[in-house]
Amino acid sequence: ALISLLAIVLAYLVGSLSFAVIVSRVMGLDDPRSYGSGNPGATNVLRSGSKKAAILTLLLDAVKGVVPVLVAQALAPTLHWGELTIGMVGLAAFLGHLWPVFFRFQGGKGVATAAGVILALHWPLGLAVLATWLAVAFITRYSSLAALVAAVAAPLIQLLVWPPSGLALPLIAMSLLLIWRHGANIRKLIAGTESRIGQKAEAPA
Ligand code: G3P
Repeated sequence: ALISLLAIVLAYLVGSLSFAVIVSRVMGLDDPRSYGSGNPGATNVLRSGSKKAAILTLLLDAVKGVVPVLVAQALAPTLHWGELTIGMVGLAAFLGHLWPVFFRFQGGKGVATAAGVILALHWPLGLAVLATWLAVAFITRYSSLAALVAAVAAPLIQLLVWPPSGLALPLIAMSLLLIWRHGANIRKLIAGTESRIGQKAEAPA
């Protein structure tokens, strides 16, 4: 139990690397918390005009979800970890992104990190969720709406397509938190003021 707790703490620390802020700083761009939606995430970094910075943010925020899960999976047979423990390690990385210890707990909404976590936990589910995100994003051009639909779809697909598993609990927790973090986006979508992918948004409220 102690070693699984240690793994969860380490995953949380990895998740706390807010790559929107780190990549922007390294590339000499403005802090993403100072413009657009104010969210440290790839969608908002794209509003800086740098596609390269946005893609790097997306990839690195996803990788920080992938790596802890792959490490946990590699250790699982030796440490007798089940799916729930592996899922909790993934959830911890996601929580790090939302409340990063290195950035005064002011994190992002968790879309890229959740995608990485799900892909690593169960890649067929990850691909199905990714396809959902891409389809909604392509049709509507709303990054937030695509994330919301994908977040609803993830636990549903898992429950309907695969046998009950210890992954269900961490998956549902990630979905609920992700949806909750999109409160401002939901209000803007309803009001018709949400910005589309690549569009500049108004200054943070
Ligand atoms: O990446 C999070 C996305 O779903 C919404 O981001 O900046 O439009 O609030 P943003």
